Amino acid sequence: MQHNEVIMGPPAVLHKVAREIQEYQSFTPEEIHERTVQAKELLGNRLVILGHNYQRDEVIEFSDFQGDSLKLARISSELPDREYIVFCGVSFMAETADILSSSDQAVVLPDLAAGCSMADMADLEHVEMVWDSLRTLLPVEELVMPVVYVNSAADLKAFCGKHGGITCTSSNAQAVFRWAFERREKILFFPDEHLGRYTAKSVGLQESDLIVWDPYLPNGGHTPEAIRHATVLLWKGFCSVHLMFRPEHVRTFRSNYPDLQVIVHPECCEGVVEQADLVGSTELIIQTVSDAASGTVWAIGTELNLVNRLKRLQPDKKIFFLSPTVCQCSTMFRIDPIHLLWSLENLVDGHVVNRISVPADDKLWAGRALDRMMSVGC
Ligand code: 13P
Ligand code: SF4
Repeated sequence: MQHNEVIMGPPAVLHKVAREIQEYQSFTPEEIHERTVQAKELLGNRLVILGHNYQRDEVIEFSDFQGDSLKLARISSELPDREYIVFCGVSFMAETADILSSSDQAVVLPDLAAGCSMADMADLEHVEMVWDSLRTLLPVEELVMPVVYVNSAADLKAFCGKHGGITCTSSNAQAVFRWAFERREKILFFPDEHLGRYTAKSVGLQESDLIVWDPYLPNGGHTPEAIRHATVLLWKGFCSVHLMFRPEHVRTFRSNYPDLQVIVHPECCEGVVEQADLVGSTELIIQTVSDAASGTVWAIGTELNLVNRLKRLQPDKKIFFLSPTVCQCSTMFRIDPIHLLWSLENLVDGHVVNRISVPADDKLWAGRALDRMMSVGC
């Protein structure tokens, strides 16, 4: 396989991409659709397009597989015959696909600006500083299991891999916490405080067992005694999309619709997950609502594209978006039909644009943390 890899960064390359994208903007939606169909046909089985459940309909339409982050990670490890994995999602998902796929497959993220603001809330420098602070207080390697949400950069997954730790997604966080507690007494969980709190409590812990670690304060803002006493240390990170859902929204919906069922993603705050009937990953939300009886009424607390698609595909149910304010994951939204077409047509011409390549050392160690997660199951 010949890859004409573009290394992003130098302004000249960015300008070239911007110029090319600008040309595509002059096409009509019909032209974009037609050309995408053609490019897919030309690439045939050399290509697989993966689409996260939050992608807009015009992108999902072209994805060969749709799913949550765990399902798509698994799929990316199971198709070694595809030369190109075009990942319609955000950068941490594409990095995970690159780690789990073979080295002669190229993972492409159609727009490199598709990141995740929560993933950016923890970086290696701060995580290493926390680990060093903990080392001054307790035998950290023996007692503390680092557990990183897949919504994180590859070097943080590698940090966990090196320190005996593990990754998790919203689908398997409880199983991963149990795995961790079978091996060490404490967990350092990053970067999502809310998923961490929900998971810790669902495996039987109390608020008094948890501390929230502010990476910008000495010792996370805690006394040495509080740190030694804590069972789970929760990084102070959050998803701004899921924090838009508030406990009062659940109360208002319930008072208006007595038969309503509320289903939310575990990145929502505690006041919301506590009142929900069901809490789970995007895939669990889709499965549950799709399998529900006709006529049932749902309020869903996760990204808008997913909720709108369910509404459209399940007109026999009453489906509401849980927040009165329209909130979308603006970075997921960066992947649009234009960027998808641009990346596919470049592949047709033999140019691999926007390739996501995790450095070899991070790939090795992050792979260990991901393999441990995959072996936990769920
Ligand atoms: P899922 O793994 O549930 O798809 O969630 C990913 C995510 O980023 C939620 O905001
Ligand atoms: Fe990240 Fe939140 Fe977007 Fe999910 S919804 S990708 S956690 S910013």
